Amino acid sequence: MKILEGINVSTSYGGRIIHDSVSWSVKSGEIYGFLGGSGSGKTTLMKTMMYLKKPDLGEVKFEGKNMWQSPLKTQNEIKLQTGVMFQFGALFSSMSVLDNVGVMLKEYSALSQSQIDEISMFWIQKVGLKKESATLYPAELSGGMKKRAALARALVLSPKVLFLDEPNSGLDPVSSRQMDTLVCELRDTLGLSVVMVTHDADSIFDILDRFLIIENKKIAFEGSMGEIKNLKVNPLQELFDMRKNSGK
Ligand SMILES: Nc1ncnc2c1ncn2[C@@H]1O[C@H](COP(=O)(O)OP(=O)(O)OP(=O)(O)O)[C@@H](O)[C@H]1O
Ligand SMILES: [Mg+2]
Repeated sequence: MKILEGINVSTSYGGRIIHDSVSWSVKSGEIYGFLGGSGSGKTTLMKTMMYLKKPDLGEVKFEGKNMWQSPLKTQNEIKLQTGVMFQFGALFSSMSVLDNVGVMLKEYSALSQSQIDEISMFWIQKVGLKKESATLYPAELSGGMKKRAALARALVLSPKVLFLDEPNSGLDPVSSRQMDTLVCELRDTLGLSVVMVTHDADSIFDILDRFLIIENKKIAFEGSMGEIKNLKVNPLQELFDMRKNSGK
């Protein structure tokens, strides 16, 4: 079943076209990648599915509902079913990990502080952080721990879809692989659908079920790694060569 779908979507900033009538679809329960060069429009396209960038033309659908044309009430319901970890997903530096993770609950639920703390603590542990890290402040965390805390914050409303913009950027190779493993575990245990922007070759080969590649305002490819190998001209040839040379 399709959980997200873009149909003939065009976007621009101040008259400069970024996407020219592109279509894609994300199936429920898959890890779907957004690939393309820097500035090709990966973040912008992902934002059309988060109510952060309205398309000039075309439709974006969440479980078949036209996201941008739905009544406000439906739009708010859809928003609450998505979690986001931004590319430069900064935590609030003046708040502890526990409070950072709980912000959405404070904003959108009528739960008491102790209930919020309890739920936040659940997610802190779910993303592999120790209980003791809950009282730490962002400046006291390693890069990998910050990413995990940001992930817990994105998950705290139990979303159906998780958007990740370069979850591995800035992480060392070991932490990157741990992040990949965590994303797969979350998908498997929570039944999440994950849409992620990534440049990371290992993530691309190892955890993406399907992906799209943006090139020159269009989608140059949508499908799986198995399908891309059958193309006459492989748009990921460089990545394949790199991988071969590194002995994988
Ligand atoms: N708010 C904005 N206002 C004007 N132009 C923007 C805005 N956001 C992005 N752009 C432009 O749109 C284009 C696509 O940007 P986008 O951030 O979507 O690319 P990206 O593929 O995510 O790049 P990167 O890999 O570097 O994160 C770029 O040329 C960028 O300068
Ligand atoms: Mg980006």
